[in-house]
Amino acid sequence: MKNKIPKIKYQKSKWRFILFSLCLLLSTFYFIREVNSQMKIKLPKPRSSGGMSLSETLNKRKSWRSFSSEALKLEEVSQILWSAGGKRLDAVSGATRTYPSAGATYPLEIYLLVGKGGVEGLEEGIYLYLWDENSLEKISSSDVRRDLAFACLGQTFISQAPISVIIAAEYVRTTGYYGQRGIRYVHMEVGNVTQNLHLVAEELGLATVIVGAFSDEKVKRVLGLPNNLEPLTVMPLGYKK
Ligand SMILES: Cc1cc2nc3c(=O)[nH]c(=O)nc-3n(C[C@H](O)[C@H](O)[C@H](O)COP(=O)(O)O)c2cc1C
Repeated sequence: MKNKIPKIKYQKSKWRFILFSLCLLLSTFYFIREVNSQMKIKLPKPRSSGGMSLSETLNKRKSWRSFSSEALKLEEVSQILWSAGGKRLDAVSGATRTYPSAGATYPLEIYLLVGKGGVEGLEEGIYLYLWDENSLEKISSSDVRRDLAFACLGQTFISQAPISVIIAAEYVRTTGYYGQRGIRYVHMEVGNVTQNLHLVAEELGLATVIVGAFSDEKVKRVLGLPNNLEPLTVMPLGYKK
């Protein structure tokens, strides 16, 4: 009898402790979720019809290397990123994107670099494009356009463009499935995305060019890319000058 009372007390406090830990865990989870959602920037809904005809866009497309410093609108940035690799608007089940991917392995990530005053209503910095929700996740807050131009072997026009889109790949997502041949598939895929970017830029009356000449290590450092990602192309964008 003497021994039983402390045991009940112990069990009660054990349950209190478990309940308290659960509450703490839940509130931490909701706090992190709230902070994360506040760090995300929802982009305006992109347009999926209208605009210039495809033949006209193809005929007009060319590489542009001089950019006006005029700020882009958030709607334009949304249209650019969605066209590059966003979710197809009618993709109800098994969501696909605006470009094809070998075995739907989707090895590419799209980064946006924004210069100071480069986009109306968007601070300078580096962002990751979240394709499935058409939002941006902020990675850092500095204007690193000059560092990026330097990393691209001194191609100074990159520092004059208000924004740059950088495509990076995690090869293993595709090579894990297709072996060495997956490398070829990743490179084909980045070609799809860059052509999308070229065409949407032309449709919006913007200038762009594919930049492939850069130091991988320096671009990785400037963007703070995680080790699993390799930068494949840089595309500065802005109004034509
Ligand atoms: C894979 C690839 C890499 C390229 N790299 C660069 C580059 O680093 N710098 C640059 O100014 N242009 C670069 N270009 C653009 C080409 O110079 C350009 O597409 C070519 O001169 C044809 O001109 P057009 O695009 O106006 O038709 C690259 C193009 C491709 C496809």
